[in-house]
Amino acid sequence: ARITLRQLLDHAAEHGYGVPAFNINNMEQALAIMAAADATDAPVIIQASRGARSYANDIMLKHMMDAVTEIYPHIPVCVHLDHGNNPATCMTAIQAGFTSVMMDGSLKEDGKTPGDWEYNVGVTKTVTDMAHLGGISVEGELGVLGSLETGMGEKEDGHGAEGKLSHDQLLTNPKEAVEFVRATKVDALAIAMGTSHGAYKFSRKPDGAILAMNVIEEIHRLLPNMHLVMHGSSSVPQDLQDIINQYGGKMPQTWGVPVEEIQRGIKHGVRKINIDTDNRMAMTGQIRKVFAESPGEFDPRKYLKPAMEAMTKLCKQRLEEFGTAGKA
Ligand code: G3H
Ligand code: 13P
Ligand code: NA
Ligand code: ZN
Repeated sequence: ARITLRQLLDHAAEHGYGVPAFNINNMEQALAIMAAADATDAPVIIQASRGARSYANDIMLKHMMDAVTEIYPHIPVCVHLDHGNNPATCMTAIQAGFTSVMMDGSLKEDGKTPGDWEYNVGVTKTVTDMAHLGGISVEGELGVLGSLETGMGEKEDGHGAEGKLSHDQLLTNPKEAVEFVRATKVDALAIAMGTSHGAYKFSRKPDGAILAMNVIEEIHRLLPNMHLVMHGSSSVPQDLQDIINQYGGKMPQTWGVPVEEIQRGIKHGVRKINIDTDNRMAMTGQIRKVFAESPGEFDPRKYLKPAMEAMTKLCKQRLEEFGTAGKA
């Protein structure tokens, strides 16, 4: 069944677990997530970015979401828009059947310029006013994702803040978070504490200096009932880096967010954990392996099936680690 983010995260808070939000762009990723949720008896969040919507088409996504909820009627699924960049994008997602939208006003519409307070509160409130009328949930974001090591915004794929950011911008201010939630009435709040999107988050295993989990604890103390969201939460496992590089890839050594840090977050109000990169890497590793070991192969199912299975394995692991397993 399709449920809203609010319904799902209220249940998660009540029972003290977190829910991974996995990104999809295609059928294989949707099926992989659902196979994992089914195997672990877990509710799940499937999210699509604006990039996913233009890649797959809203109508295709809508029917894919209908299809997976029909195939797995017993699994609660929240269909969420990841990083909406203006109210219109959120509105069209709702029209396409999403039960939850993110209005990311931490950046302006160009996705590069940090949004100021008035801008962020304004666009986010516009979306909550509208979405709540139809029973749709809204995630907002306060603070800009980026690296505390370098002071830079997103590095890898061009989306995210441009250039050098101050510590103040890279870490959500807990007192401002209280005011932001009061002013916007968001159902979930994404916060910044040193993570960034993509594979290249940290140049070493992160400690408190570059991954500020204490910010989460402080926000949870001030806002005990708010559902917190961690973006950029791939762990970038070493074995996935190794398999990609073993079969011809060239990924420089990198570190992601350790699962134990996410588990610590879940103890302090983190309810939604965004993961895309780990699944991209899991699929790519298997595709590279098939290409390297069977260069004569040209049936897409021969590499997409192992890719799907690797993604299912990763999703199952996170559903178990975050306590989502058994909560469907
Ligand atoms: O925002 C980050 C997600 O991983 C989605 O990425 O915009 O390349 O689809 P994307
Ligand atoms: P990762 O790149 O760490 O998987 O983060 C995904 C994300 O935050 C999507 O919104
Ligand atoms: Na999101
Ligand atoms: Zn994100």
